[in-house]
Amino acid sequence: MSNLYDVLPAEAADDVPVRKVTIRVNGESLSAVVEPRLLLAHLLRQGFGLTGTHTGCDTTNCGACTVLLDGQPVKSCTLFAVQADGHDVMTVEGLAGPSELHAIQEGFKEEHGLQCGFCTPGMMMTTKALLDENPNPTEDEIRWALSGNLCRCTGYQNIVKAVMWAATKLQDQ
Ligand code: FES
Ligand code: FES
Repeated sequence: MSNLYDVLPAEAADDVPVRKVTIRVNGESLSAVVEPRLLLAHLLRQGFGLTGTHTGCDTTNCGACTVLLDGQPVKSCTLFAVQADGHDVMTVEGLAGPSELHAIQEGFKEEHGLQCGFCTPGMMMTTKALLDENPNPTEDEIRWALSGNLCRCTGYQNIVKAVMWAATKLQDQ
Protein backbone atom coordinates (compact mmCIF):
# COMPACT_ATOMS: atom_id res chain seq x y z
CA MET A 1 0.00 0.00 0.00
CA SER A 2 1.63 3.21 -1.11
CA ASN A 3 -0.85 5.62 0.44
CA LEU A 4 -3.61 5.43 2.98
CA TYR A 5 -6.30 8.04 2.84
CA ASP A 6 -8.98 8.26 5.46
CA VAL A 7 -11.83 10.03 3.74
CA LEU A 8 -14.43 9.33 6.37
CA PRO A 9 -16.34 12.42 7.36
CA ALA A 10 -15.18 13.72 10.72
CA GLU A 11 -18.60 13.25 12.22
CA ALA A 12 -18.78 9.59 11.21
CA ALA A 13 -19.78 7.43 14.11
CA ASP A 14 -17.42 4.73 15.29
CA ASP A 15 -19.87 2.05 14.24
CA VAL A 16 -20.02 3.14 10.58
CA PRO A 17 -18.74 0.22 8.53
CA VAL A 18 -15.60 0.97 6.55
CA ARG A 19 -13.67 -0.86 3.95
CA LYS A 20 -10.16 -0.53 2.59
CA VAL A 21 -9.93 -0.18 -1.17
CA THR A 22 -6.86 -0.29 -3.36
CA ILE A 23 -7.15 1.14 -6.85
CA ARG A 24 -4.50 1.57 -9.51
CA VAL A 25 -4.99 5.22 -10.46
CA ASN A 26 -3.05 6.52 -13.44
CA GLY A 27 -0.57 3.71 -12.92
CA GLU A 28 -0.08 4.26 -9.18
CA SER A 29 -1.51 1.95 -6.54
CA LEU A 30 -3.51 4.04 -4.07
CA SER A 31 -5.42 2.85 -1.03
CA ALA A 32 -8.09 4.38 1.12
CA VAL A 33 -10.36 3.52 4.00
CA VAL A 34 -13.86 4.50 2.92
CA GLU A 35 -17.49 4.17 3.80
CA PRO A 36 -19.18 1.75 1.38
CA ARG A 37 -21.46 4.58 0.22
CA LEU A 38 -18.59 6.82 -0.91
CA LEU A 39 -18.73 7.60 -4.61
CA LEU A 40 -15.67 7.02 -6.77
CA ALA A 41 -15.79 10.65 -7.92
CA HIS A 42 -15.50 11.84 -4.34
CA LEU A 43 -12.66 9.46 -3.52
CA LEU A 44 -10.75 10.67 -6.57
CA ARG A 45 -11.29 14.34 -5.78
CA GLN A 46 -11.25 14.50 -1.99
CA GLY A 47 -9.26 11.42 -1.10
CA PHE A 48 -6.66 11.40 -3.85
CA GLY A 49 -6.66 15.11 -4.75
CA LEU A 50 -7.38 14.42 -8.43
CA THR A 51 -9.69 17.37 -8.95
CA GLY A 52 -9.54 17.15 -12.74
CA THR A 53 -12.51 14.81 -12.45
CA HIS A 54 -15.43 17.22 -12.18
CA THR A 55 -18.84 16.66 -10.69
CA GLY A 56 -21.62 18.58 -12.38
CA CYS A 57 -24.92 16.81 -11.78
CA ASP A 58 -24.24 13.81 -9.50
CA THR A 59 -27.06 12.07 -11.37
CA THR A 60 -25.34 10.36 -14.33
CA ASN A 61 -26.47 12.99 -16.81
CA CYS A 62 -23.64 15.39 -17.59
CA GLY A 63 -20.57 13.18 -17.98
CA ALA A 64 -18.19 15.69 -16.37
CA CYS A 65 -17.08 12.97 -13.95
CA THR A 66 -16.15 10.44 -16.65
CA VAL A 67 -13.06 8.35 -15.99
CA LEU A 68 -11.85 5.08 -17.48
CA LEU A 69 -12.37 1.92 -15.43
CA ASP A 70 -10.26 -0.85 -16.93
CA GLY A 71 -10.29 1.18 -20.16
CA GLN A 72 -14.06 1.69 -20.30
CA PRO A 73 -15.63 5.11 -19.76
CA VAL A 74 -17.73 5.27 -16.61
CA LYS A 75 -19.45 8.08 -14.79
CA SER A 76 -17.65 8.12 -11.48
CA CYS A 77 -20.59 9.80 -9.72
CA THR A 78 -22.53 6.62 -10.37
CA LEU A 79 -20.00 4.14 -9.08
CA PHE A 80 -19.12 3.44 -5.48
CA ALA A 81 -15.43 3.60 -4.65
CA VAL A 82 -15.63 0.00 -3.42
CA GLN A 83 -16.71 -1.08 -6.92
CA ALA A 84 -13.36 0.12 -8.24
CA ASP A 85 -11.41 -1.88 -5.66
CA GLY A 86 -8.75 -3.91 -7.44
CA HIS A 87 -9.30 -2.19 -10.77
CA ASP A 88 -7.46 0.31 -12.98
CA VAL A 89 -8.76 3.86 -13.12
CA MET A 90 -7.51 6.54 -15.47
CA THR A 91 -8.38 10.17 -14.86
CA VAL A 92 -7.65 13.20 -16.99
CA GLU A 93 -4.47 13.72 -14.97
CA GLY A 94 -3.18 10.48 -16.49
CA LEU A 95 -3.52 11.64 -20.09
CA ALA A 96 -0.49 13.90 -20.49
CA GLY A 97 3.07 12.64 -20.59
CA PRO A 98 5.72 14.06 -18.26
CA SER A 99 6.53 16.95 -20.57
CA GLU A 100 3.93 17.03 -23.31
CA LEU A 101 0.21 17.14 -23.78
CA HIS A 102 -1.65 14.09 -25.03
CA ALA A 103 -2.87 14.40 -28.62
CA ILE A 104 -6.44 14.64 -27.30
CA GLN A 105 -5.51 17.62 -25.14
CA GLU A 106 -3.71 19.19 -28.09
CA GLY A 107 -6.78 18.65 -30.25
CA PHE A 108 -9.04 20.47 -27.81
CA LYS A 109 -6.53 23.31 -27.68
CA GLU A 110 -5.99 23.53 -31.43
CA GLU A 111 -9.67 23.33 -32.38
CA HIS A 112 -10.99 25.46 -29.50
CA GLY A 113 -12.95 22.51 -28.16
CA LEU A 114 -13.66 24.20 -24.84
CA GLN A 115 -14.83 27.43 -23.35
CA CYS A 116 -15.39 27.25 -19.57
CA GLY A 117 -13.69 23.85 -19.51
CA PHE A 118 -16.02 22.25 -16.99
CA CYS A 119 -17.07 19.43 -19.29
CA THR A 120 -13.61 19.02 -20.81
CA PRO A 121 -12.06 16.32 -18.58
CA GLY A 122 -15.06 14.07 -19.15
CA MET A 123 -15.10 14.83 -22.86
CA MET A 124 -11.42 13.94 -23.09
CA MET A 125 -11.76 10.67 -21.21
CA THR A 126 -14.70 9.57 -23.35
CA THR A 127 -12.65 10.54 -26.40
CA LYS A 128 -9.75 8.44 -25.13
CA ALA A 129 -11.99 5.39 -24.85
CA LEU A 130 -13.44 6.04 -28.31
CA LEU A 131 -10.07 6.44 -30.05
CA ASP A 132 -8.60 3.41 -28.27
CA GLU A 133 -11.41 1.34 -29.75
CA ASN A 134 -11.94 3.16 -33.02
CA PRO A 135 -8.88 5.16 -34.15
CA ASN A 136 -10.59 6.67 -37.19
CA PRO A 137 -14.17 7.51 -36.21
CA THR A 138 -16.66 9.28 -38.43
CA GLU A 139 -18.34 12.47 -37.26
CA ASP A 140 -21.49 10.49 -36.49
CA GLU A 141 -19.53 7.98 -34.44
CA ILE A 142 -17.90 10.80 -32.47
CA ARG A 143 -21.24 12.45 -31.78
CA TRP A 144 -22.70 9.10 -30.68
CA ALA A 145 -19.72 8.34 -28.41
CA LEU A 146 -19.97 11.77 -26.78
CA SER A 147 -23.74 11.71 -26.44
CA GLY A 148 -23.45 11.05 -22.70
CA ASN A 149 -21.31 14.14 -22.16
CA LEU A 150 -23.02 17.50 -22.00
CA CYS A 151 -21.47 20.86 -22.83
CA ARG A 152 -23.36 24.06 -22.22
CA CYS A 153 -20.82 26.35 -23.90
CA THR A 154 -19.46 25.16 -27.21
CA GLY A 155 -22.34 23.85 -29.28
CA TYR A 156 -20.26 20.68 -29.74
CA GLN A 157 -19.00 21.49 -33.25
CA ASN A 158 -15.47 22.31 -32.10
CA ILE A 159 -15.43 19.33 -29.76
CA VAL A 160 -16.07 17.06 -32.73
CA LYS A 161 -13.30 18.83 -34.65
CA ALA A 162 -10.99 18.38 -31.66
CA VAL A 163 -11.61 14.65 -31.61
CA MET A 164 -10.96 14.43 -35.36
CA TRP A 165 -7.74 16.45 -34.91
CA ALA A 166 -6.62 14.04 -32.18
CA ALA A 167 -7.51 10.98 -34.25
CA THR A 168 -5.38 12.25 -37.14
CA LYS A 169 -2.48 13.11 -34.85
CA LEU A 170 -2.56 9.72 -33.14
CA GLN A 171 -2.62 7.92 -36.48
CA ASP A 172 0.37 9.95 -37.67
CA GLN A 173 2.40 9.11 -34.55
S1 FES B 1 -21.42 14.42 -12.27
FE1 FES B 1 -21.44 12.40 -13.00
S2 FES B 1 -22.65 12.47 -14.78
FE2 FES B 1 -22.74 14.51 -14.00
S1 FES C 1 -16.83 24.12 -22.27
FE1 FES C 1 -18.23 24.86 -20.76
S2 FES C 1 -19.50 23.16 -20.41
FE2 FES C 1 -18.29 22.53 -22.06
